[in-house]
Amino acid sequence: MKNTVVVGAQWGDEGKAKITDLLAQKADMIIRYQGGCNAGHTVVYKGETFKLHLVPSGILYENKICFIGAGTVILPESFEQETNELKSRGVDLSNLKLSPLATITMPYNTDVDGWAEDTVKKGKIGSTRKGIGQTYTDKMARCAFKVGDLINEETLLEKTDIILPLKNKILKEVYGLKEYSKEELLELFKKYKKIFEPYICENWQEMLRTNKDKTILFEGAQGVMLDIDYGTYPFVTSSNPIGGGASTGSGYGPAMIDEVIGVTKAYITRVGEGPFVTELSDETGDKIREVGHEYGTTTGRPRRCGWFDSVIARYAALVSGLTSIALTKIDVFDDFDEIKICTAYRDNLNGKIYKDYPTNVFMHKYLEPIYETHAGWKSDISNIRTYEDLPENCKKYLKRIEELTGTPISIISVGPDREQTIFVN
Ligand code: IMP
Repeated sequence: MKNTVVVGAQWGDEGKAKITDLLAQKADMIIRYQGGCNAGHTVVYKGETFKLHLVPSGILYENKICFIGAGTVILPESFEQETNELKSRGVDLSNLKLSPLATITMPYNTDVDGWAEDTVKKGKIGSTRKGIGQTYTDKMARCAFKVGDLINEETLLEKTDIILPLKNKILKEVYGLKEYSKEELLELFKKYKKIFEPYICENWQEMLRTNKDKTILFEGAQGVMLDIDYGTYPFVTSSNPIGGGASTGSGYGPAMIDEVIGVTKAYITRVGEGPFVTELSDETGDKIREVGHEYGTTTGRPRRCGWFDSVIARYAALVSGLTSIALTKIDVFDDFDEIKICTAYRDNLNGKIYKDYPTNVFMHKYLEPIYETHAGWKSDISNIRTYEDLPENCKKYLKRIEELTGTPISIISVGPDREQTIFVN
C-alpha cells in the first residue's frame, strides 16, 4: 500500500471508520490529523463493536503506531474515558502516541460552545458541544494550552499567568460565564497531566523521521463539506478535514502523500444545521434513514438524509485532491425502485445553472437540485464480493458517479462487515 489519506467527502459519517480499518491492516503507522472527540468512528473487530472518537482505529491491531497529531484538539475527560474503555477491553495502548503540539480543550471552551448552542437562535451551528470551535479559536488566537505544556511546571505557570486573565475577561464580560481561578486551573492541569502522560510523545520528531519510509495511513475525521476553509461555512467544524489537512496536522509534508481516498455514501447525510440542497424531508428521506441506520455516533441525533449530490462530490474531489472514491452503503438502495443523482443546481431566483459548487451558502435556500433518475436493482447485493457480479443497474449507477465526479471508484462497501467489501481493480 502507498501512503494514503482517507477523507470524508461529504458532511462526515460516510463510513470512514470501516475504510480506515481495512487500510490500517496494511499500514505501519496511522495518524489522526485533525478534529477531536466530535468524531465518532464505529469499528467492528473480532465481532466486537468499538466506538472511537480520537484514538486511531489502527489501535485494534498489534504493532501499529497510532499517532494523534498536532492538528487535533483533545478534551481530556473524553480521552480518558476512551482510553480507559479500550484498556478495560484488553486493547494494548503501548503504541498510542500523542503529539505535545495537540491542543487541550479547556472547560471554558465547552462552556462557551454550550452557551452558543443554547443562546444563538438564528444561524445556530448545531455543534456537538465538545468545545471544538472554541478550542481552535483559542489556538488561532494564540491563547491555547498544548498537551506539551503540561510537562514543564515552570513554563505552565508562566503561560497560565498570561492566558487566564485574558480568558476570564472574555468569559465574564462577553458571555457572563463562570471565571476560573489560577488554583482551579492548576488542579485541572495536574489531572490532565496524569491522563496524558503515558501517551505524550516527546520524541515525535525522531519517530516521524524513523518511520518515514514505512507505510503511513492518514486518518481524517468529519468531511470536506465541514472543512473550515472549503465547507459550507459557517456551518462547518473548525479544522481542515480535506486531504491537505493531513500534512499540517501530522507533521509530514505533502510529498509524503501518494493517494487520497474520499469516502462517500451512495446517498448523503448531514447532522447539525446548515444547507443541504438534496435533503429529502419526505418518506424517501425517512426510508434512507431507517434502512441506513442514520443516527449520530457521538450525539445519537437523527441524520438528515438526501440523494447523492455529484456537485458536492466533484467539488470534494477537486479541493481534497481525491485519487479515488470509496463508495459506502450502496446496499441501502437494494429495495429502491429508483435512485436519483443530483447533477447540477438551478437557482430559482434567476434560473442560473450551477455545475460547480456555489460557495455562498446563504443563497442555497434558492437552489433546487436537478436530478437524473436511475432504475434500482431490486436485489440483495450484500453478499456480492466482485464488481463483475454486481447487478447491471448497480454498475450503471457506479459508472455514472465516476463520470460525474471524474474520479474512479476503488472500493465499494456493501455492508458493515469487513468482508462486505469490493476492491475495484
Ligand atoms: P463541532 O465540530 O462540534 O463544532 O460541530 C460543527 C458542525 O460539524 C456540526 O454541524 C456538527 O454536527 C458537525 N460535525 C462535527 N463532527 C462531526 C462528525 O464527526 N460527523 C458529522 N458531523 C460532524
